[in-house]
Formats: sequence, structure tokens, C-alpha cells
Amino acid sequence: MSDMLLSYLNKQLHSEYKAMYTYMYYAARENHPRIKSALKKFYDEEQQHAVMLMEFIFRMGGTPELPDSIPIEIHDDILPALVLSVAEEESAVQMYKMIRSLMSSDEERSIIDITIAQEQKHHEVLGSILTLAKSELL
Ligand SMILES: [Fe+2]
Ligand SMILES: [Fe+2]
Repeated sequence: MSDMLLSYLNKQLHSEYKAMYTYMYYAARENHPRIKSALKKFYDEEQQHAVMLMEFIFRMGGTPELPDSIPIEIHDDILPALVLSVAEEESAVQMYKMIRSLMSSDEERSIIDITIAQEQKHHEVLGSILTLAKSELL
């Protein structure tokens, strides 16, 4: 299995940690019911993505990298965090498309397809939450 694929899998694993901690933190802090429940759901899905990536890495003979520290910046206002997360969901979609192109079996590609669909959904829902947050906060 290619070293390039392993390095992309580990790179994306770090992005999943970042997404997980970001959504966990803001889900706990925010009181708006729609924002809270969406972020909790995203947290669960990002955690599943991290486990999936680790499983691929182990299966390919690699070592999943762990974070050195909690990889997020905290903002007093949720808006900058949402703007950043929308951009990161878009990058996640691109990254998974690249990973998919390096996968060798239909089974692996179909797992990645499910993940891509979830990241696209996160991007879409976060975009609408961002619009909601802007209208209520600005
Ligand atoms: Fe993810
Ligand atoms: Fe996501």
C-alpha cells in the first residue's frame, strides 16, 4: 500500500480530531437547540470518521497518529468557529475524494463514499446554521 495514501489518511485523521473537538466544545457551550443538536450529531460522525481512518491505517500496516494536544482554537463568539468549520468541511470533502482515488477496492471506496456524503451534509447544515447565527447575532 502506498506511503502517499497512508500520509493522506493520517493527515485527514488530524482534521477529524480537530472537527470532533470543535463540535464537542461548541455543542456543550451553545444553548440554541438546533445548533446544539446538529453539533452533537457532527461530533459523533467525526468520531466515527476518526475510527474508520485508524482502521484503514492499521489495515495498511501504518500507525495512526494521535494529537499532541487538543487541536482547536476557542472563540467567544461562535460565528468565527462556524466560518472556519464550513471551510474545513469543504476541505474534508476534497481530501476524501483524493483518498478515494487511491483506494484499491470497491468496499473501501464505498466506505469513503458514505463519509463524503456525511461531510457534504455537515457543510450544508453548517452553512444554514451560520446564516441563522448571523441573523440572530448581528
Ligand atoms: Fe469527518
Ligand atoms: Fe465533517
